[in-house]
Amino acid sequence: MTNSLIDTFGRIHDNLRISITDRCNVRCFYCMPEEGVTYMPHAEILTFEEIERFVRVAVALGVTKVRVTGGEPLVRKGLPVLIRMLSAIPGIRDLALTTNGVLLAKHAEALYEAGLRRLNVHLDTLDRERFLRITRRDELDKVLEGLEVARQLGFGPIKINAVAVKNLVEPDIVPLAHFGREHGMEIRYIEFMPLDAQGLWSRGNVLTAGEIIETLSREVAPLIEIPDRDARAPATEYRYADGLGTVGFIASVSRPFCLNCNRIRLTSDGKLRYCLFAIEETDVKGVLRSLAPDEEIAAILRGTVHKKWLGHEINSSQFVAPPRPMYAIGG
Ligand code: 5AD
Ligand code: SF4
Repeated sequence: MTNSLIDTFGRIHDNLRISITDRCNVRCFYCMPEEGVTYMPHAEILTFEEIERFVRVAVALGVTKVRVTGGEPLVRKGLPVLIRMLSAIPGIRDLALTTNGVLLAKHAEALYEAGLRRLNVHLDTLDRERFLRITRRDELDKVLEGLEVARQLGFGPIKINAVAVKNLVEPDIVPLAHFGREHGMEIRYIEFMPLDAQGLWSRGNVLTAGEIIETLSREVAPLIEIPDRDARAPATEYRYADGLGTVGFIASVSRPFCLNCNRIRLTSDGKLRYCLFAIEETDVKGVLRSLAPDEEIAAILRGTVHKKWLGHEINSSQFVAPPRPMYAIGG
């Protein structure tokens, strides 16, 4: 199939991230405020049928990879139903879910049966106190149980997303690395990005990939960079020289990877975004809820990709944080 989602810089877009809810059952400080979150009303959220139709159109234009995100996708009722609908779409080569893992033990089996295999579970620390400080909820045990259940069911690969915040997660780096190596799960560090609801981000709060690599090489085992399997994947991957496992870095701040970006994003209320940091977005929900033909949805997809900028400017003085925080965009 030829891909028709090529932007003005020649980047081919085959990767769609769909946020299915802005709700979450924890409150990570780098994403959500502690209190006073106003969620979108249900009527504003796309139905599974609307999402499925959108994905079919996107796949016809060349999308082959789909990731379901949130908020926390598992707080939305019936997620396995959506997973089943999406896994039935011919042309999707890669279907994945990003979750905080709190409800995973409960739903992993239904997700597996619905056809899901790839999981990214958000976990910054194995320390109960720090977990509580970061997420403001005491749910570490449930996340660990969820990971174990998923592993036993045969999910794979299971990757762990950890947000790299300076003066906070340094004590977790080595224990998390050992955990990943023991359980065959790749830890992926995501540099803290200016997407938090409270504006706490500053460059000084970013623990960089370089710093983590230094710690791991010194205290766990030397790291060897793996040549890019897919130049457009955001993570740079390393393997431990002793052969035990890999670790990934999403160095959005210290080494921006926008030049290779292949992603577009659909928010839970049906807006299409060409970048995590985009200021503008295009409404698709209106079209989905009208009697408009698929061609109109296709036109919005092409138009959004066509408008895409070269990249975010976190590193420039002109950077403007997007009006939506992370939980309302979907990471
Ligand atoms: N900076 C970097 N990563 C973040 N995430 C959430 N907020 C931020 C932020 N401010 C990550 C979480 C989640 C993924 C979707 O995005 O690790 O797993
Ligand atoms: Fe919830 Fe994920 Fe945001 Fe944490 S980062 S508050 S788990 S949506």
